[in-house]
Formats: sequence, C-alpha cells, structure tokens
Amino acid sequence: MGFLSDLKILYHLALRPVRGHDHAARMENFYAGQAESYDDFRKRLLKGRQELYGSIPIPDGGTWIDMGGGTGANLEFFGDSLARLNKVYLLDLSHSLLEVAKKRIDSRGWTNVETIEADATTFRPPAGQVDVVTFSYSLTMIPDWFAAIENALAILKPGGILGVVDFYVSRKFPAGGLKRHRWFTRTFWPAWFAMDNVFPSPDHVPFLHRHFEPLKFEENAAKVPYVPLVRMPYYLFVGRKRSQG
Ligand SMILES: C[S@@+](CC[C@H](N)C(=O)[O-])C[C@H]1O[C@@H](n2cnc3c(N)ncnc32)[C@H](O)[C@@H]1O
Repeated sequence: MGFLSDLKILYHLALRPVRGHDHAARMENFYAGQAESYDDFRKRLLKGRQELYGSIPIPDGGTWIDMGGGTGANLEFFGDSLARLNKVYLLDLSHSLLEVAKKRIDSRGWTNVETIEADATTFRPPAGQVDVVTFSYSLTMIPDWFAAIENALAILKPGGILGVVDFYVSRKFPAGGLKRHRWFTRTFWPAWFAMDNVFPSPDHVPFLHRHFEPLKFEENAAKVPYVPLVRMPYYLFVGRKRSQG
C-alpha cells in the first residue's frame, strides 16, 4: 500500500505534465490527483517543518497565517497550544488540498482555524495585521515569491514574526557566513525541481535577511526519497518585522 501510494505520487512528480492557464489552475492541476496521499510522502520529503513551527513562540490570543498551508498537516505540530491562538488562517490556492485540510479541521475540532482559497501575494486578512506569517515549502512554488514576502511584511504587525522553511541553493559567491554549494548542487536541483514548478532560488535567503531582523537561521540538507547519493539543501528562517520600514 505504501509503495503503491508512493508510485502514484512519483507519477505526479516525475511524469504527469502540469497543465493550467494560470498559476492557480496549475497548482490545482498538480495537486488534485495526489491530495489524499500528500501528507505521507511529504513527511519524508519536506524536512525541518516541525522544527520551524516549534521554534516560533505562540502569541496568546494572536493571529497566525500559514501561507500555502496545503492540507494543514503542519498545524498538528502545535498540539494543544493551537487553542491559545485566536485565529489561524490556512491559506492556499489548491482547492483539493484545502478539502483535505477541512476534513482535518473538522475531525480535530479546531474551531479557530479557517481555510482560505486565495493567493499569498495579495491576501489581506479581514481583521487587520497579524502576529505570525509562515511559509512551509510554499515560497519555492510561488512565482512572485518576492511579492509574497512583501505582502507578509505588510500584513504583519510591527514586531510580528515571519517563519520560512524551504528548499534553496546558494549563490555562486554567497555573502559572508552563508554556505556555498558546489556547481552540481546549484545546477542539478533547480533543473530537477522545475519539472514540478518548484523553483529553489539563491535569492530567497538574502532577501529575507534584508527585510527582517533574523532570529534563527539554519542551512541544512536532506535526502530526497528515491534519489540516491545526493542531498537537497533547505533552510529555516525566523525573522522579526522591524518597527520601522
Ligand atoms: C509543497 S506545498 C507545501 C504545503 C504545506 N505548507 C506543507 O508544508 O506541506 C506548496 C503549497 O503552496 C501552495 N501555493 C503555491 N502558490 C501559492 C500562492 N500563490 N498562494 C497560496 N498558496 C500557494 C500550493 O498550492 C501548495 O499547497
């Protein structure tokens, strides 16, 4: 059963062409056939998520937006602490993944969690600025990722927290202190992931450091299921919105 379910996911990741006339249609087209099996495979592919959600202090009575939150699996990391938040918006463009999230919300009895089918680059929360915005492996799937970060900056209260975990590659000449990846890593992974409209970038990390006060930053690498010998770099960033600018 596990392997058959993996085969289905691998077909969607490696063989099935992604169709759609715009970004939202392409996201839904990509995820519709794999929504129900999404969580199991991504547990092995998307590393660092528990660490990210565990490293952001929960603002009591606050509001948290999970941008590109998919099936809502990451909300499980909060445990009972989820109830301390006044509101959690689980925002995504894929209707099918949000349907899985809705089932999870109902079965867990999470009355403070709301799904929103919207674009992370333009969504404005109805009740004004929020305390936390997170992106877990969604920035690399958002073509205008810089607009998504700028939108998060606008949405966050002064002192609000941004958390990101995602794939990336380093620049050829990274700024002081950042890891440098070899040519193969910088070339192979972007080409590989582009097949699924995932775009690991050398620019996310510098952009995040430029716009937020960094509180936590880690550069790691993880195994990719069924791809032997090589590891895919990912980073974890937690930053605070500065009071000015
Ligand atoms: C790799 S999945 C990650 C899902 C989830 N955050 C996780 O950690 O499992 C990327 C998600 O980003 C969503 N996404 C892509 N572009 C988006 C956009 N512009 N606005 C909102 N969600 C978007 C996709 O539909 C998908 O659910």
